[in-house]
Amino acid sequence: MNRFVIEGGIPLQGEVKISGSKNACLPIIAATLLAPGKHIIHNIPQIRDIRTMLRILELIGSKVELLGHTLSIDTSLANNPYAPYELISTMRASFLITGAMIGRFGEAHISRPGGCAIGPRPIDEHLHGFKMLGIKIKEEHGYLHLSSNHIIEGKVYLNEQSVTATENILLATATQQAETHIINGAMEPHVMELIKFLNLMGANIKLKDDIIIVIGNSLHPIEYTISADYIETGTFIIATAITGGEVTLIDAKYEDSIAEITKLQEIGVQIEKVSNGIKVKMSSPIKSCNIKTAPYPGFPTDLQPQITSLLAIANGTSIITETMYEQRFNHILELARMGAEIEIEGRNAIITGVKELSGTKVMASDIRGGASLVIAGLAANGITEISRIYHIDRGYESLETKLSQLGAKIKRV
Ligand code: EPU
Repeated sequence: MNRFVIEGGIPLQGEVKISGSKNACLPIIAATLLAPGKHIIHNIPQIRDIRTMLRILELIGSKVELLGHTLSIDTSLANNPYAPYELISTMRASFLITGAMIGRFGEAHISRPGGCAIGPRPIDEHLHGFKMLGIKIKEEHGYLHLSSNHIIEGKVYLNEQSVTATENILLATATQQAETHIINGAMEPHVMELIKFLNLMGANIKLKDDIIIVIGNSLHPIEYTISADYIETGTFIIATAITGGEVTLIDAKYEDSIAEITKLQEIGVQIEKVSNGIKVKMSSPIKSCNIKTAPYPGFPTDLQPQITSLLAIANGTSIITETMYEQRFNHILELARMGAEIEIEGRNAIITGVKELSGTKVMASDIRGGASLVIAGLAANGITEISRIYHIDRGYESLETKLSQLGAKIKRV
C-alpha cells in the first residue's frame, strides 16, 4: 500500500495549477446522461472519485474516453438504470446518478449507500425530495427502486441544505417540461456550476432569492470546461501558510473562497487576487482564531481538517465548531500523535497552539483528513509517514507532484 513520506520545514515557493473541481465534475458527469449524444468536458481532475463515476456511466451503457484531462462521453445508447452496491459503496456521491436516471429513464434501481468515515451521512433528504416530486420509492435487500411514469414537478422543501440532495433534484427535474421550486437548496459553487451546465444544455434554471426555480426542457450535448476546485485552492493556501511560503495558485477563483480567505487573513496570511489566480504569502506568526463550519457561503467543512493543522501551531487557543458532520474529527487523534494539543468536546475542537509539530507515522481516514496530515507533515520537525493515502487520491490530483514542484520534500513510497 502506498504511503507519503514527508520531510517537513521547507517553505513552499512558486506556482501551482489548481485542478478542476471534483464536486462540480461528479454531478456534471451524471448530467451528461440527460442529453443523449456526445459531450466533451475539459479540465477533468485525474482522481479516483471521477474514475468511479465514469465506471457507473459505462455500466449504464455510455461510451467513455478520458484522454489527459479531457473527457469524451457518448450517452446515446445508455439504457440500463441500475447502479450496484460495489460502486455505490466506494463513493457516496455515486448516489447522484439516481436523479440523472430518473430524468433520462423515469426509473432508477440503486444500492442504498453504506457508512462513511466522517459520520452518518443519511439520504433521507434525497428520498423526501423525490417523494415530493411524486416519485414512487420501494426498498428491498438494500436496493432502492424509484419510478415515475408522469411529468414530475412541484415544490421541494429541503430540511437540510444538502449539496447532493439539491443536485439530485436538479438532475431529476431538468428534462421535465414543467416548473419545480427547490426551497432551502444548497448554494455551493459546485451546485451553481451544475446549474450553469444544465442551462448550457438547454434547461432554464434561475435563482429567485434563495429559491431555485427549474423549468426543464429537452437537453442537448455540449462542450464544457470545469472550473478550478475551491477546496483544493483552500488546501494549497493553508499548505503555503503553514510553511511560511509564497505561492501563486493558477486558475484559483477568489470569489468562491471568500469565507476561508477572510478567516485565513485573520490568522495573518496575505492573500491577493491576481490576474491568473490567487497569490498567497505568509511572513508573520500564525494567530489563533475561532471557526464554525456552515453551508456556503459559510466556512466549508471540507477545509476544517486542513485549517485545524494550521491552528495547531498558532499563537494562542482556537475553537473549531464542526456543525455539519459529528465525526469529522478523526484527523485530530493523528495530529495529537504529532504533538498537537487538541481537546474534543462534542462538536468543538479546542486547539491550544504548540510551538511545533513533530513527524511520526500517521494514518489518513478520509480525503480532507488525509490532506490535513500532509499539511501538518510539511511543517513538522523530522519525517512524517502517512499511510492509507488512497483516501487522499480520491480527491486530490497528484498532490505529491504539485507539492514537490513547490519545493516540498514529499515522496510516494
Ligand atoms: N443531511 C441530512 N440528510 C440527507 C443529506 C444530508 O441530514 O439526506 C445532512 C448531513 O448530515 C450533513 C449535511 O446535511 O450535516 C450536509 O450533507 P450533504 O448531503 O450536503 O453532503 P453531501 O452532499 O453528501 C457534499 C460534498 C462533501 C461535502 C458536503 C458538505 C459532494 C460530492 N460532496 O456531500 O464533500 O463535505 O457536501 O459541504 O459534493 C469531500 O469532497 O471530501 C466531501 C466529503
